[in-house]
Order: sequence, then structure tokens, then C-alpha cells
Amino acid sequence: MLRINPNIKVWGRNDLCPCGSGKIYRFCHQEIDEKMLAYRRKGCIVPSKRLLKKKSEIEAIKESARINVAVLDYVSEKIGEGMSTEEINRLVHTKTVEMGGIPAPLNYQGFPKSVCTSVNDQVCHGIPSPKTILKDGDIINVDCSTIYHGYFSDSSRMFCIGNVSEENRKLVEVTKQAVEIGLKEVKPWNFLGDMGQAINDFVKSKGYSVVEDIGGHGVGLEFHEEPFVSYVTKKGTEMLMVPGLMFTIEPMVNMGRANVYIDDNNGWTVYTEDHKPSAQWEIQVLVTEDGHEVISW
Ligand code: MF3
Ligand code: CO
Repeated sequence: MLRINPNIKVWGRNDLCPCGSGKIYRFCHQEIDEKMLAYRRKGCIVPSKRLLKKKSEIEAIKESARINVAVLDYVSEKIGEGMSTEEINRLVHTKTVEMGGIPAPLNYQGFPKSVCTSVNDQVCHGIPSPKTILKDGDIINVDCSTIYHGYFSDSSRMFCIGNVSEENRKLVEVTKQAVEIGLKEVKPWNFLGDMGQAINDFVKSKGYSVVEDIGGHGVGLEFHEEPFVSYVTKKGTEMLMVPGLMFTIEPMVNMGRANVYIDDNNGWTVYTEDHKPSAQWEIQVLVTEDGHEVISW
């Protein structure tokens, strides 16, 4: 039996559009709503209305992202050989709070620090520690997330410490390109799987692998909201991209095999099984009416 999501309210044609644009519904979201309904009837996964950010929410999320980007810029000025990941944690925490934000990772499901720092064979969720000192040749992901007035931003960057091998530098570069290739697929009426396949095909063509068990997520009103965003999906599958949908593109790319495991001791840090290096860049992106807008990078 055909099921229609009750969240899709059929609005009066001449009512003010519920998106908050101040326009009349039939000149604003009516066409989009009808298109979503048609996709839903074909059996596609269509986002519920609450996942589509309103204008005022987008503005508020951008304020959060302004802090998140400033914090990452701050880290990029200071990071270097000899610095401990605990020191990075202190930089992130201090800068975020100074700008009026709250570091989202701190106490999130028991996470003990204000930022994730993942070095070399650490895939993600590395926990800052005074014992982890950055050394010449390391590659590190710094993953920052900010709460500001209740709105969430999330992005991460890689940093090369000193003289990084050609091999590892290439891994970092290809991973960044993978995000850019995925981003090209972000536009209304594409599917998340279009992006997933573009990323996975590209990464494979370079001889690397994409981590399958961990992925990205919707973000903005919560730290992690629907949809789950995988980068090993197929074109034409997964959730439909609709203006207002906001999510992260954050593939984890392994130089060796895709297999990973979680550190037993802390229950957080993910490592590559073969202990070859892994890289990740993360951006937060909004689907707009004519394509996309990068919110945090
Ligand atoms: N920033 C990570 C992400 O991209 C989330 C880490 S959860 C934490 O989704 F608790 F480890 F911070
Ligand atoms: Co994220």
C-alpha cells in the first residue's frame, strides 16, 4: 500500500509559505513539495520536512559555522611538529569559547575532549592526549564541531607535519579531491548515492579504499541527524537531495584496505586494520535551489 508521509502538509496555495521566505506558497515551495511527492510515489527515499532547513535556521547555522571555520583557521596557524594533540584540544576549546560557542564533541555521548585529532593510521575519533606529540612526517585530521545558540556546524581538515612522504601527501590530496568530486553531485533531485558513487569510483581509481562502516550525517539542528551519508553507495539510490537538506561530506580514505576497528581501550578511536594511513576531509553542505552552498569547510 502506498504510504504518504504525514509530515507533508498540503499548504493552501495562497498561504504564506511555511519556509519563512515571506512569499506566497504557490510562488515558493509548492512546486518543490509536489515534486517530492512524485518522487515519494515512485518509491524514492525523500527527506521529511523537518530535515529541510528554513531560511532563519540556515542563517543561524552559518553563524555557528563562522566560529567553526575560524577555529580551524586558528589551528592551521599554530599546528606543527612537537605540538601535542592535547595542545590542539586546548587551542580549539579556548578559541571556540572565546567566540561564544561550545565545542560540540565535549561530553557528546561521553567523548572526553573538545575536538577529534586522528593521526596517521587513526581513521577518526582520535582523542587528544598530552602523550601524542606531532612528529615530522605525520598526517593529522583535526575535526571541529561547534554549537552556537543551539545550532551545529561540523568540518575537518588534514594537516601535513614537516616533511611528509610523497605517498602520504598524495593520500591527503586525493581525499580532498574526493570531497570536491562528491560536492559536484550536490544539487536538487540528485540522490546521495550519486555523490557516494562518484567519491568511491574516484578513490578506487587512485588505488585507495573508502571506509564502509562509518559515514557522514545530516547536521544543523542537531550534531548528527538523518540522513546517514555513506560514500560506498550507488548512483540513483539513497535519499533524494532537496533544497534545504544539509549534511556532511566526509569520506575516510585508506591507503590500504577499507577494514577498520575501534580501540578497545577508549571505545572511540578508529584505526585501519592494516595500520596503513587514512585521511579525511569534512565539509558541511546545504542543497540550494540551484545547486549547493558550502556552509563549513
Ligand atoms: N566530528 C565528528 C563527525 O564528523 C563527530 C565526532 S563525535 C565525537 O561526525 F564525539 F567524537 F566528537
Ligand atoms: Co561529521
